[in-house]
Amino acid sequence: MAKPPLLRFFSGLIGGTRAVESIVPRRTFDDVVLPPSTRRALDQALTQVTSHDLIFTRWGLGERHPTGLALAFNFAGPSGTGKTICAEAIAHALGRRLLLVRYAELESMWMGDTPKNVAEVFRLARDEQAVLFFDEADAIATRRAVSFDQGSQRESNLVVNVLLQELETFNGVVIFATNLAANFDPAFERRLRTHVLFEMPGVEERERIWRVQLHPTKTPLADDVDFRALAKRYEGSGGDIRNAVLKAALAAASEPGPDALKAIHQRHLDEGMRDVLAARRVMRQSILDGRALGATGPLEAVDALGSGLGRRAALALGLSVAALLVALAALAATVL
Ligand SMILES: Nc1ncnc2c1ncn2[C@@H]1O[C@H](COP(=O)(O)OP(=O)(O)OP(=O)(O)O)[C@@H](O)[C@H]1O
Ligand SMILES: [Mg+2]
Repeated sequence: MAKPPLLRFFSGLIGGTRAVESIVPRRTFDDVVLPPSTRRALDQALTQVTSHDLIFTRWGLGERHPTGLALAFNFAGPSGTGKTICAEAIAHALGRRLLLVRYAELESMWMGDTPKNVAEVFRLARDEQAVLFFDEADAIATRRAVSFDQGSQRESNLVVNVLLQELETFNGVVIFATNLAANFDPAFERRLRTHVLFEMPGVEERERIWRVQLHPTKTPLADDVDFRALAKRYEGSGGDIRNAVLKAALAAASEPGPDALKAIHQRHLDEGMRDVLAARRVMRQSILDGRALGATGPLEAVDALGSGLGRRAALALGLSVAALLVALAALAATVL
């Protein structure tokens, strides 16, 4: 039998961004700094997860009670707030692999095959006893809300049905990550046990995130580095801080002079963060400009689709009227 498309892709591709990746988790909760409310919600989720794993996997009750046991979470929050690391940390805490599914890519790669691929990733997760993580899961929800196209609407309904079926028979942990306040299908929403809200870090958290992004002993830091000042000055996410640190390290390393004398200074970190935040503003601006200039944004696309459908409907009506007239003429000719 031919391999399902997902498996072909999974086993065939080397490099590039993969739609599905099986990871041995390395990052732990020590690598994550979270605002207190997010931390509390996550601790509760972790307690549920560890007792679930103990009862249903290690104590074997999952084999006695095979349905309706999946623990499904929604990690919701802005980009760079630590959703992916926390999914990895949960898998690490359980001593399991993390099966990372980039949902948007899985969906765009094989139009029409998404429900089959979703079923396939559940099978992989079962085989590997992995924690299943659907990243970019907004697409599951939003496609349904904006789609006027019958084909993709049907497919997204099918995906939700497959997800519900699979959740019914999967007895592991499934995490969905979303950036928006996702507009999930109500039946699917009910199946998600807990929503963990990932908030942007405050000053305290940002200061600690700056620290955890550097190696405690190996990274050379100049005496002028002041994390508190950086945390107060820039309201970025953890992801922004990470990118700023990498930029700063690159700038410090490329300065002239012997390596032994090189160190990261406050000005490198300042410039790194300014660059990162400026790049984000440019991105946001170009998205807004694109809309203002009438480039095809989602709404315009829907309009275009609508007028396309209108034209096609008019054409079909015209053709049917013409066919009717020809038939009437033929009938008249026969009768006469
Ligand atoms: N709360 C945090 N504590 C420490 N580091 C963080 C935190 N949040 C983000 N980071 C850093 O930023 C990087 C990106 O974070 P992560 O991928 O977990 O964000 P995300 O919420 O999944 O973002 P996206 O929605 O874009 O996928 C991490 O690898 C880590 O280095
Ligand atoms: Mg992520």
